[in-house]
Amino acid sequence: MEITQQLKEIEKAALREIETSRSLKEVQDLRIRYLGRKSRITSILKELGSLPKEIRPEVGRVSNEIKRCIEDAIENRGEDLSEDIFSGLDEKEKIDITEPGIKGERGTLHPITQLRMELEDIFMSMGFTIATGPEIELDYYNFEALNIPQDHPARDIQDTIWTIDGNLLRTHTSSVQIRTMEKLKPPIRIVAPGRVFRYEETNASHEHTFYQVEGLMVDRNISVSNLIAVMRTILREVFQKDVAVRLRPGYFPFVEPGFELDISCHLCDGNGCQVCKYSGWEELLGCGLVHPNVLRMSGIDPEEYSGFAFGMGLDRLVMMRYGIDDIRLFHSGNLRFLEQF
Ligand code: DAH
Repeated sequence: MEITQQLKEIEKAALREIETSRSLKEVQDLRIRYLGRKSRITSILKELGSLPKEIRPEVGRVSNEIKRCIEDAIENRGEDLSEDIFSGLDEKEKIDITEPGIKGERGTLHPITQLRMELEDIFMSMGFTIATGPEIELDYYNFEALNIPQDHPARDIQDTIWTIDGNLLRTHTSSVQIRTMEKLKPPIRIVAPGRVFRYEETNASHEHTFYQVEGLMVDRNISVSNLIAVMRTILREVFQKDVAVRLRPGYFPFVEPGFELDISCHLCDGNGCQVCKYSGWEELLGCGLVHPNVLRMSGIDPEEYSGFAFGMGLDRLVMMRYGIDDIRLFHSGNLRFLEQF
Protein backbone atom coordinates (compact mmCIF):
# COMPACT_ATOMS: atom_id res chain seq x y z
CA MET A 1 0.00 0.00 0.00
CA GLU A 2 1.14 3.45 -0.70
CA ILE A 3 2.49 5.19 2.36
CA THR A 4 0.03 8.08 2.27
CA GLN A 5 -2.80 5.60 1.91
CA GLN A 6 -1.49 3.72 4.95
CA LEU A 7 -1.37 6.96 6.91
CA LYS A 8 -4.97 7.76 6.03
CA GLU A 9 -6.03 4.32 7.30
CA ILE A 10 -4.19 4.91 10.56
CA GLU A 11 -5.87 8.26 10.94
CA LYS A 12 -9.31 6.81 10.38
CA ALA A 13 -8.76 4.01 12.91
CA ALA A 14 -7.26 6.37 15.44
CA LEU A 15 -10.10 8.88 15.22
CA ARG A 16 -12.69 6.16 15.59
CA GLU A 17 -11.03 4.73 18.65
CA ILE A 18 -10.53 8.12 20.22
CA GLU A 19 -14.16 8.96 19.65
CA THR A 20 -15.37 5.83 21.41
CA SER A 21 -12.84 5.86 24.24
CA ARG A 22 -14.45 5.98 27.68
CA SER A 23 -11.76 7.02 30.11
CA LEU A 24 -8.73 9.26 30.42
CA LYS A 25 -6.60 6.17 30.82
CA GLU A 26 -7.86 4.79 27.56
CA VAL A 27 -7.12 8.10 25.82
CA GLN A 28 -3.64 8.04 27.26
CA ASP A 29 -3.06 4.52 25.90
CA LEU A 30 -4.25 5.63 22.45
CA ARG A 31 -1.79 8.53 22.50
CA ILE A 32 1.03 6.07 23.12
CA ARG A 33 -0.20 3.65 20.47
CA TYR A 34 -0.70 6.20 17.70
CA LEU A 35 1.84 8.91 18.49
CA GLY A 36 4.37 7.24 20.79
CA ARG A 37 7.96 6.31 20.02
CA LYS A 38 7.03 2.92 18.59
CA SER A 39 4.04 4.10 16.56
CA ARG A 40 3.82 3.79 12.80
CA ILE A 41 3.61 7.57 12.30
CA THR A 42 6.75 8.18 14.33
CA SER A 43 8.70 5.57 12.39
CA ILE A 44 7.53 6.95 9.05
CA LEU A 45 8.64 10.43 10.06
CA LYS A 46 11.95 9.06 11.29
CA GLU A 47 12.66 7.23 8.04
CA LEU A 48 11.61 10.11 5.82
CA GLY A 49 15.20 10.56 4.72
CA SER A 50 15.40 7.12 3.16
CA LEU A 51 12.36 7.60 0.90
CA PRO A 52 12.70 8.48 -2.78
CA LYS A 53 13.14 12.25 -3.26
CA GLU A 54 9.91 12.65 -5.30
CA ILE A 55 7.53 11.41 -2.61
CA ARG A 56 9.43 12.72 0.43
CA PRO A 57 7.74 16.17 0.72
CA GLU A 58 4.29 14.73 0.17
CA VAL A 59 4.70 11.95 2.77
CA GLY A 60 6.22 14.42 5.25
CA ARG A 61 3.35 16.84 4.85
CA VAL A 62 0.63 14.18 5.14
CA SER A 63 2.29 12.53 8.18
CA ASN A 64 2.55 15.82 10.06
CA GLU A 65 -1.00 16.75 9.19
CA ILE A 66 -2.38 13.44 10.43
CA LYS A 67 -0.23 13.59 13.54
CA ARG A 68 -1.63 17.01 14.41
CA CYS A 69 -5.14 15.85 13.66
CA ILE A 70 -4.81 12.86 16.03
CA GLU A 71 -3.21 15.07 18.68
CA ASP A 72 -6.15 17.48 18.51
CA ALA A 73 -8.66 14.67 18.73
CA ILE A 74 -6.92 13.21 21.77
CA GLU A 75 -6.77 16.62 23.40
CA ASN A 76 -10.49 17.26 22.85
CA ARG A 77 -11.56 13.83 23.97
CA GLY A 78 -9.45 14.20 27.09
CA GLU A 79 -11.16 17.47 27.92
CA ASP A 80 -14.61 16.01 27.35
CA LEU A 81 -13.90 13.08 29.61
CA SER A 82 -12.49 15.15 32.45
CA GLU A 83 -15.54 17.36 32.40
CA ASP A 84 -17.58 14.23 32.71
CA ILE A 85 -15.71 13.31 35.89
CA PHE A 86 -17.21 16.35 37.57
CA SER A 87 -20.65 16.23 36.10
CA GLY A 88 -22.98 14.33 38.38
CA LEU A 89 -20.35 14.22 41.10
CA ASP A 90 -22.72 15.83 43.61
CA GLU A 91 -25.08 12.95 43.00
CA LYS A 92 -22.43 10.26 43.15
CA GLU A 93 -20.70 11.57 46.25
CA LYS A 94 -23.84 12.93 47.86
CA ILE A 95 -22.38 16.22 49.07
CA ASP A 96 -25.00 18.01 51.11
CA ILE A 97 -23.92 21.63 50.97
CA THR A 98 -26.60 22.62 53.47
CA GLU A 99 -25.09 20.46 56.21
CA PRO A 100 -23.49 22.52 59.04
CA GLY A 101 -19.66 22.65 58.79
CA ILE A 102 -17.15 21.03 61.13
CA LYS A 103 -15.34 23.68 63.16
CA GLY A 104 -11.57 23.32 63.27
CA GLU A 105 -10.05 23.18 66.76
CA ARG A 106 -7.85 26.19 67.26
CA GLY A 107 -5.61 26.69 70.26
CA THR A 108 -4.82 29.97 72.00
CA LEU A 109 -2.02 31.10 74.26
CA HIS A 110 -2.52 30.26 77.92
CA PRO A 111 -3.94 33.28 79.84
CA ILE A 112 -0.77 33.38 81.96
CA THR A 113 1.38 33.49 78.83
CA GLN A 114 -0.80 36.25 77.40
CA LEU A 115 -0.41 38.44 80.48
CA ARG A 116 3.30 37.67 80.75
CA MET A 117 3.84 38.91 77.20
CA GLU A 118 1.73 41.97 77.88
CA LEU A 119 3.73 42.80 81.00
CA GLU A 120 6.98 42.30 79.12
CA ASP A 121 5.83 44.84 76.55
CA ILE A 122 4.82 47.36 79.22
CA PHE A 123 8.11 46.98 81.09
CA MET A 124 10.14 47.15 77.91
CA SER A 125 8.39 50.38 76.97
CA MET A 126 9.72 51.71 80.29
CA GLY A 127 13.28 50.76 79.46
CA PHE A 128 13.45 47.38 81.22
CA THR A 129 14.96 44.34 79.55
CA ILE A 130 13.91 40.72 80.05
CA ALA A 131 16.20 38.46 82.09
CA THR A 132 15.98 34.73 82.73
CA GLY A 133 17.48 32.14 85.05
CA PRO A 134 17.29 28.37 85.56
CA GLU A 135 14.34 26.66 87.24
CA ILE A 136 16.69 24.21 88.97
CA GLU A 137 18.79 26.56 91.01
CA LEU A 138 21.74 26.55 93.37
CA ASP A 139 21.19 27.24 97.05
CA TYR A 140 23.48 30.23 96.63
CA TYR A 141 21.26 32.09 94.15
CA ASN A 142 17.93 31.15 95.71
CA PHE A 143 18.93 31.85 99.35
CA GLU A 144 22.52 32.60 100.26
CA ALA A 145 23.16 35.63 98.04
CA LEU A 146 19.71 36.99 98.89
CA ASN A 147 20.78 37.47 102.48
CA ILE A 148 19.08 34.25 103.60
CA PRO A 149 21.88 32.21 105.22
CA GLN A 150 21.68 28.50 106.08
CA ASP A 151 20.26 28.98 109.55
CA HIS A 152 18.02 31.91 108.76
CA PRO A 153 14.40 31.48 109.90
CA ALA A 154 13.14 32.87 106.56
CA ARG A 155 13.98 29.54 104.96
CA ASP A 156 11.01 28.05 106.74
CA ILE A 157 8.64 30.39 104.92
CA GLN A 158 9.62 28.92 101.62
CA ASP A 159 8.89 25.26 101.61
CA THR A 160 11.43 24.08 99.17
CA ILE A 161 11.59 21.14 96.82
CA TRP A 162 15.17 19.90 96.93
CA THR A 163 16.90 17.73 94.37
CA ILE A 164 18.86 14.68 95.51
CA ASP A 165 22.17 16.39 94.75
CA GLY A 166 21.45 19.34 97.06
CA ASN A 167 20.13 21.81 94.49
CA LEU A 168 16.54 23.02 94.47
CA LEU A 169 13.60 24.06 92.34
CA ARG A 170 13.70 27.83 92.68
CA THR A 171 11.11 29.04 95.16
CA HIS A 172 11.06 32.52 93.68
CA THR A 173 12.40 34.46 90.72
CA SER A 174 14.51 36.59 93.07
CA SER A 175 17.44 34.32 92.15
CA VAL A 176 17.52 36.08 88.78
CA GLN A 177 18.30 39.37 90.56
CA ILE A 178 21.60 37.93 91.72
CA ARG A 179 22.46 36.32 88.41
CA THR A 180 21.79 39.67 86.72
CA MET A 181 23.83 41.79 89.12
CA GLU A 182 26.76 39.39 88.73
CA LYS A 183 26.72 40.03 85.00
CA LEU A 184 25.67 43.66 84.57
CA LYS A 185 26.92 46.95 85.99
CA PRO A 186 24.43 49.64 87.07
CA PRO A 187 22.29 51.23 85.78
CA ILE A 188 20.25 48.01 85.76
CA ARG A 189 16.58 47.70 84.81
CA ILE A 190 15.33 44.14 84.32
CA VAL A 191 12.23 42.04 84.74
CA ALA A 192 12.41 38.27 85.02
CA PRO A 193 9.19 36.34 84.48
CA GLY A 194 9.30 32.65 85.29
CA ARG A 195 7.98 29.52 86.89
CA VAL A 196 8.59 28.84 90.56
CA PHE A 197 7.91 25.89 92.86
CA ARG A 198 6.90 25.35 96.46
CA TYR A 199 6.45 22.19 98.49
CA GLU A 200 2.96 23.15 99.45
CA GLU A 201 -0.51 21.80 99.87
CA THR A 202 -2.81 23.18 97.19
CA ASN A 203 -6.07 25.05 97.59
CA ALA A 204 -7.99 27.74 95.71
CA SER A 205 -5.16 30.26 96.11
CA HIS A 206 -2.05 28.08 96.49
CA GLU A 207 -0.29 25.93 93.92
CA HIS A 208 2.97 23.99 94.04
CA THR A 209 3.88 25.43 90.64
CA PHE A 210 3.13 29.02 89.77
CA TYR A 211 4.53 32.11 88.12
CA GLN A 212 6.28 35.24 89.28
CA VAL A 213 7.63 38.33 87.63
CA GLU A 214 10.70 39.69 89.34
CA GLY A 215 11.79 43.29 88.84
CA LEU A 216 15.04 45.00 89.67
CA MET A 217 16.24 48.53 89.17
CA VAL A 218 19.66 49.62 90.41
CA ASP A 219 21.15 53.06 89.87
CA ARG A 220 22.26 56.10 91.81
CA ASN A 221 19.58 57.62 94.08
CA ILE A 222 16.86 55.02 93.62
CA SER A 223 14.21 55.37 96.32
CA VAL A 224 10.80 54.05 97.34
CA SER A 225 9.13 56.75 95.27
CA ASN A 226 10.66 55.28 92.10
CA LEU A 227 9.28 51.92 93.13
CA ILE A 228 5.77 53.26 93.72
CA ALA A 229 5.77 55.20 90.45
CA VAL A 230 6.73 52.14 88.42
CA MET A 231 4.16 49.93 90.18
CA ARG A 232 1.35 52.42 89.66
CA THR A 233 2.15 52.74 85.97
CA ILE A 234 2.24 49.00 85.44
CA LEU A 235 -1.03 48.34 87.24
CA ARG A 236 -2.79 51.12 85.37
CA GLU A 237 -1.68 49.56 82.09
CA VAL A 238 -2.74 46.06 83.11
CA PHE A 239 -6.16 47.00 84.44
CA GLN A 240 -6.68 49.96 82.11
CA LYS A 241 -7.68 52.15 85.07
CA ASP A 242 -6.23 53.47 88.32
CA VAL A 243 -6.20 50.62 90.84
CA ALA A 244 -6.49 50.98 94.62
CA VAL A 245 -3.12 50.08 96.09
CA ARG A 246 -2.03 49.49 99.69
CA LEU A 247 1.55 49.30 100.95
CA ARG A 248 2.18 47.43 104.18
CA PRO A 249 5.50 46.86 105.85
CA GLY A 250 6.69 43.39 104.95
CA TYR A 251 9.73 41.34 105.83
CA PHE A 252 11.94 39.89 103.14
CA PRO A 253 15.62 39.38 104.03
CA PHE A 254 16.81 40.77 100.70
CA VAL A 255 15.16 44.19 100.98
CA GLU A 256 15.25 46.95 103.58
CA PRO A 257 12.75 48.46 104.00
CA GLY A 258 10.44 45.75 102.67
CA PHE A 259 6.77 46.04 101.74
CA GLU A 260 3.79 44.01 100.73
CA LEU A 261 1.78 45.64 98.02
CA ASP A 262 -1.92 44.83 97.95
CA ILE A 263 -4.56 45.83 95.46
CA SER A 264 -8.27 45.76 96.15
CA CYS A 265 -9.73 42.36 95.26
CA HIS A 266 -11.38 42.58 91.85
CA LEU A 267 -13.35 39.43 92.34
CA CYS A 268 -15.46 40.72 95.23
CA ASP A 269 -14.76 44.48 94.90
CA GLY A 270 -13.30 44.50 98.38
CA ASN A 271 -16.26 42.76 100.05
CA GLY A 272 -14.43 39.55 100.87
CA CYS A 273 -14.38 36.20 99.11
CA GLN A 274 -12.57 32.87 99.07
CA VAL A 275 -9.69 34.20 96.97
CA CYS A 276 -8.90 37.24 99.14
CA LYS A 277 -9.52 35.19 102.27
CA TYR A 278 -12.42 37.51 103.07
CA SER A 279 -10.13 40.52 103.56
CA GLY A 280 -11.15 42.54 100.49
CA TRP A 281 -7.49 42.92 99.53
CA GLU A 282 -5.36 40.73 97.35
CA GLU A 283 -1.67 40.42 98.07
CA LEU A 284 -0.03 41.08 94.75
CA LEU A 285 3.66 41.45 95.35
CA GLY A 286 6.53 41.85 97.73
CA CYS A 287 8.92 44.72 97.19
CA GLY A 288 11.44 47.01 98.78
CA LEU A 289 14.85 48.60 98.49
CA VAL A 290 17.59 46.09 97.75
CA HIS A 291 19.43 45.20 100.97
CA PRO A 292 23.02 46.56 101.08
CA ASN A 293 24.30 43.04 101.82
CA VAL A 294 22.72 41.78 98.60
CA LEU A 295 24.27 44.57 96.53
CA ARG A 296 27.64 44.00 98.16
CA MET A 297 27.59 40.23 97.64
CA SER A 298 26.88 40.75 93.94
CA GLY A 299 29.76 43.18 93.57
CA ILE A 300 27.83 46.47 93.64
CA ASP A 301 28.92 49.20 96.07
CA PRO A 302 25.92 50.09 98.31
CA GLU A 303 27.54 53.42 99.15
CA GLU A 304 27.28 54.45 95.54
CA TYR A 305 24.18 52.65 94.31
CA SER A 306 20.74 51.75 95.57
CA GLY A 307 17.89 49.87 93.98
CA PHE A 308 14.38 48.59 94.32
CA ALA A 309 13.11 45.08 93.69
CA PHE A 310 9.75 43.44 93.52
CA GLY A 311 8.35 39.96 93.01
CA MET A 312 4.85 39.71 91.65
CA GLY A 313 2.52 36.71 91.53
CA LEU A 314 1.53 36.40 87.91
CA ASP A 315 -1.22 33.82 88.53
CA ARG A 316 -2.86 36.15 91.04
CA LEU A 317 -2.85 39.00 88.60
CA VAL A 318 -4.51 36.88 85.92
CA MET A 319 -7.09 35.67 88.44
CA MET A 320 -7.96 39.21 89.40
CA ARG A 321 -8.17 40.38 85.84
CA TYR A 322 -10.58 37.66 84.73
CA GLY A 323 -12.33 36.93 88.03
CA ILE A 324 -10.96 33.38 88.26
CA ASP A 325 -11.58 31.95 91.72
CA ASP A 326 -9.32 28.89 91.72
CA ILE A 327 -5.60 28.93 90.88
CA ARG A 328 -5.65 25.17 90.23
CA LEU A 329 -7.56 25.75 86.99
CA PHE A 330 -4.39 27.04 85.32
CA HIS A 331 -2.70 23.65 85.26
CA SER A 332 -5.84 21.58 85.06
CA GLY A 333 -5.75 21.10 81.31
CA ASN A 334 -9.47 21.80 81.41
CA LEU A 335 -10.36 22.83 77.86
CA ARG A 336 -13.68 24.37 78.85
CA PHE A 337 -11.68 26.73 81.05
CA LEU A 338 -8.83 27.39 78.60
CA GLU A 339 -11.03 27.92 75.56
CA GLN A 340 -12.36 31.12 77.11
CA PHE A 341 -9.13 33.04 76.58
N1 DAH B 1 10.64 36.49 96.48
C1 DAH B 1 9.50 36.87 97.26
C2 DAH B 1 8.51 35.72 97.35
O1 DAH B 1 8.58 34.82 96.56
C3 DAH B 1 8.81 38.06 96.64
C4 DAH B 1 9.64 39.29 96.71
C5 DAH B 1 9.54 40.11 97.81
C6 DAH B 1 10.48 39.64 95.69
C7 DAH B 1 10.26 41.26 97.90
C8 DAH B 1 11.22 40.81 95.75
C9 DAH B 1 11.09 41.61 96.88
O2 DAH B 1 12.05 41.18 94.79
O3 DAH B 1 11.80 42.75 96.93
O4 DAH B 1 7.66 35.73 98.18
